[in-house]
Amino acid sequence: MSNKKLVFSGVQPTGNLHLGNYLGALKNFVSLQKEMECIYCVVDLHAITVFQNPKNLYDNVLETTASFLATGLNPDKSIIFNQSSVSGHAELAWILNCVSRIGWLNRMTQFKDKAGSDKEKASVGLYIYPNLMAADILLYKATHVPVGADQKQHLELSRDIAQKFNKDFNCKDFFPIPEPLIPKNISRIMSLRDATKKMSKSEESDYSRINLKDTADDINKKIKKAKSDSNSIPGEIKSLENKPEALNLLTIYSELTNKSLEKIVSEMAGKEYSFLKAKLAEVLISEITPVGKEIQKLLKDKSYLKKILKKGTEKANIIAEENLKNIREKVGLI
Ligand code: TYM
Repeated sequence: MSNKKLVFSGVQPTGNLHLGNYLGALKNFVSLQKEMECIYCVVDLHAITVFQNPKNLYDNVLETTASFLATGLNPDKSIIFNQSSVSGHAELAWILNCVSRIGWLNRMTQFKDKAGSDKEKASVGLYIYPNLMAADILLYKATHVPVGADQKQHLELSRDIAQKFNKDFNCKDFFPIPEPLIPKNISRIMSLRDATKKMSKSEESDYSRINLKDTADDINKKIKKAKSDSNSIPGEIKSLENKPEALNLLTIYSELTNKSLEKIVSEMAGKEYSFLKAKLAEVLISEITPVGKEIQKLLKDKSYLKKILKKGTEKANIIAEENLKNIREKVGLI
């Protein structure tokens, strides 16, 4: 097995990338490109597991690409492309559908959440989505996968699939077993309205999240309205155990200021949450609004964004085709 380290990750082009995507994934993508070879994919085939208006999907692929660039991904360092343009993802997904087990998919909590109470009406794609995710990673023989905590279970499935393939086809170490890279303190940013739920693009209320394209005014309003606590900020983290909204705001503030949660809590002990909110809005505005402005600027030149994707696709295809050739051989496909 080669010792080459390779990072792969993906983001769905379903619109409105938010602070959870940024702190849970994108920031990590940017720092990893300094250390390792990285492939970052706009996963449009994942997006269509739930119906997407075709025009919106097209626009969202470009907007997600713009968001990658605006947060600091460098297309000369990292491969940036959209999933459907490399057909190997779909081909390997089919092979892995035949390796993965129904029992494994039945355990996926995200399917249960997304399919809701009427599972019979969910698309088959939504059910086998984690196999496609495994294909994304294994197609490039990626060794490291930066994701937020909500993707941990899918990553574990990818590891199981890689191990089973290596065993079934008697090719020890053929697929590396991919390592999840999940940020320690900030792996799950929660909704600003109900911190028992993760911050998400699909949550109905826009007040539940900070979008990368929000203006300073939006951010001020949303943080002001964010749920916190009627008591003042306690002196120790332990006292925040049953106050998930307050803990969420303090955690976000600690991440954005690069200070430990302990330090923030001790600095803010005894203060009202309005004090924290004013400070938090300030750091959010200084970190997020330049990203939003850059996204808007990049979106004015769609042909540039398409050029980036095309260049990335060419590079990704070379790796994918080479690996697929060996995969087909292992499986016995002519
Ligand atoms: P997606 O598009 O839902 O989210 C993109 C990335 O953002 C992270 N994230 C969060 N992190 C912290 N707090 C939150 N509230 C939050 N919300 C989202 C996600 O964990 C993710 O890292 N299935 C994946 C996309 C995918 C993929 C892959 C990832 C497809 N193939 C292969 C890695 C490798 C997804 O739906 O992410």
